[in-house]
Parts: sequence; C-alpha cells; structure tokens
Amino acid sequence: MTETVVQAKAVEFEPKIVGFLCNWCAYAGADLAGVSRLQYPHNVRIIRVMCSGRIDPAFILEAFKDGADGVLVAGCHLPSDCHYLSGNFKAQRRMFLMRKVLEQFGIEPQRLRLEWVSASEGDRFATVIREMVEEIRKLGPNPITNRGIEK
Ligand code: FES
Repeated sequence: MTETVVQAKAVEFEPKIVGFLCNWCAYAGADLAGVSRLQYPHNVRIIRVMCSGRIDPAFILEAFKDGADGVLVAGCHLPSDCHYLSGNFKAQRRMFLMRKVLEQFGIEPQRLRLEWVSASEGDRFATVIREMVEEIRKLGPNPITNRGIEK
C-alpha cells in the first residue's frame, strides 16, 4: 500500500464507539439529547442495559474484539443515584481493572471511558460523545483489528 493511500485512509478514519448505557440515567440522558436536538457525532452505537453494574467485562472485550475503537460505559452518578444502590460502584471497580487488562492486550486504556450522566444531562451526554470521538480519532483505529489500515 502506498504512503498516499495509507494517509487517505487515516484521514477517513471514523471511530466506532460502543456505548453501554444504564436504562435509568445515561440512556435517558442520551434520549434527552436526542429530543432536545443536540448535535453530537454519529459514531456511537448504544446498547441499553438496566444498570452499569450489569456490564460484564466480557462485553467490553467482545466489543473490542469485534472492532470497536472505543467503549463508553455510562451510568447513574455516584454515590447514590443508582437504582440498584451499588451498581455504579461495581462498574467503577470493574472499569479500573478493565483498563489494566486492556493494556495487557495492547489496547490503550483511554479507549475505555466511564462516565456518570443523569436523565437530565442531555448536554453532558453530547459533550462526552464529542470528547470521546476526538480522543479516539487521535489514537487511531483499534490496534487489534487495525481496521481502516489493512483493508
Ligand atoms: S441504575 Fe444506573 S448505574 Fe445502576
């Protein structure tokens, strides 16, 4: 592949982000961003789960294995907004460990982001997506799949 073709592919790179959002807060925040017609990049594919504590680390590994360039986990604000009391604490502990596991696989830990977004924070959700897309764009494609370079 010539250098020019590689550069053209790099310019075209649009990050694919998988967002696991808890039903009660972050998903409602994303919904509010939509109904409020807030502008944010289209790069995120949302998966609704009942609680951030429900997000098994295997879901995250699977997303990266299947080509996600970034994974967002978003739930109710700490300490007391989780509808199941402690799910957000569990998510926080798991994400801390997951970042270390990802490093072992050669995936930059910045590709996994944990955020707290309430149902009334549509603007915050839009901001998180904008920031994350920019950060992943700087990192480039997922190093495991190398999507966009080898095609
Ligand atoms: S219900 Fe939202 S984090 Fe638990």
